[in-house]
Amino acid sequence: MKAQKSQSLNDFISQCQKRVEKTLQEVLSLSVPSTKLLDAMRYACLKGGKRLRPVLVYASAKAVGASLKNSDAGACAVELIHSYSLVHDDLPAMDDDDLRRGKPSVHKAFDEATAILAGDALQTLAFQFLSNQKNELSSAAKLQMTSLLAEATGIVGMTGGQSLDLEASGNNTVLEHLELIHKLKTGALIKASVKIGALCNSEIDQPSIESLERYADSIGLAFQIQDDILDEVGDTVTLGKPQWSDKAQAKTTYVGLLGLQNAKSKARGLTEDAIQALDGFPSSADNLRALATYIVDRIN
Ligand code: IPE
Ligand code: IPE
Ligand code: MG
Ligand code: MG
Ligand code: MG
Repeated sequence: MKAQKSQSLNDFISQCQKRVEKTLQEVLSLSVPSTKLLDAMRYACLKGGKRLRPVLVYASAKAVGASLKNSDAGACAVELIHSYSLVHDDLPAMDDDDLRRGKPSVHKAFDEATAILAGDALQTLAFQFLSNQKNELSSAAKLQMTSLLAEATGIVGMTGGQSLDLEASGNNTVLEHLELIHKLKTGALIKASVKIGALCNSEIDQPSIESLERYADSIGLAFQIQDDILDEVGDTVTLGKPQWSDKAQAKTTYVGLLGLQNAKSKARGLTEDAIQALDGFPSSADNLRALATYIVDRIN
């Protein structure tokens, strides 16, 4: 029974990965004067990563009975934002990491200025694409998605979290503050992904949105705790990014504050909370349920 379940999640993940790769290819096939910049954007975005955020958009859409077709633009937009965030996160001024998704980071493969600009342009492309998406969704839904993604990406979301993360490096940080950092730098985009999927159903009710938000809050924090754990116990080849980067930068992490075992228990507890938040949902939410477990079981 268990094996069957995880097989169906794997199939769903591959289906979503294929869909988003196709849309990203289309969006990043532009005729532009600056081919170097476009090459860097394509290098950062195409054929890499787990595509978890797009998978969450699709899984959430499925949970509320919306079509995958109407979710393609949202799935692509969150991955454009995520890829931009990784390019900037790796810069020497930030985490100074030379390896990402198993290949040299953008500032190594190109140069620092190009990496900064590629991040900038990936970010604006996400909003351009999301606001102009061609599908059956209403203009109101498109506006709502664009607005919530902007909020999740900016100062009260991911970018604000990245700033707090840098400020906290090398300092004594209490657990409550680290939780805030993780919720912002990583949780905000994960939550936006789940909400964008839900908004693909124009008739979604407020209680369902709130349950999905509770689910997303829990998996968002669990995801970053597992990322902290993998920095400690993973290996560079499997991760596709340097192990012990957090140590090198004196980052405050869940493993550093709680120890490995307690960090693992915390992540497991959050998975259970996430699954519980979906209690009122039918079997259409099974991929979301399985993803909550996948997030803490993953090895990269
Ligand atoms: C890495 O995200 C950055 C964090 C928010 C921890 P992922 O682990 O989802 O990276 P990719 O997309 O699979 O490369
Ligand atoms: C990155 O967190 C979060 C964002 C990119 C917004 P980390 O710095 O822990 O991510 P990795 O470990 O480099 O992927
Ligand atoms: Mg970082
Ligand atoms: Mg980093
Ligand atoms: Mg990390």
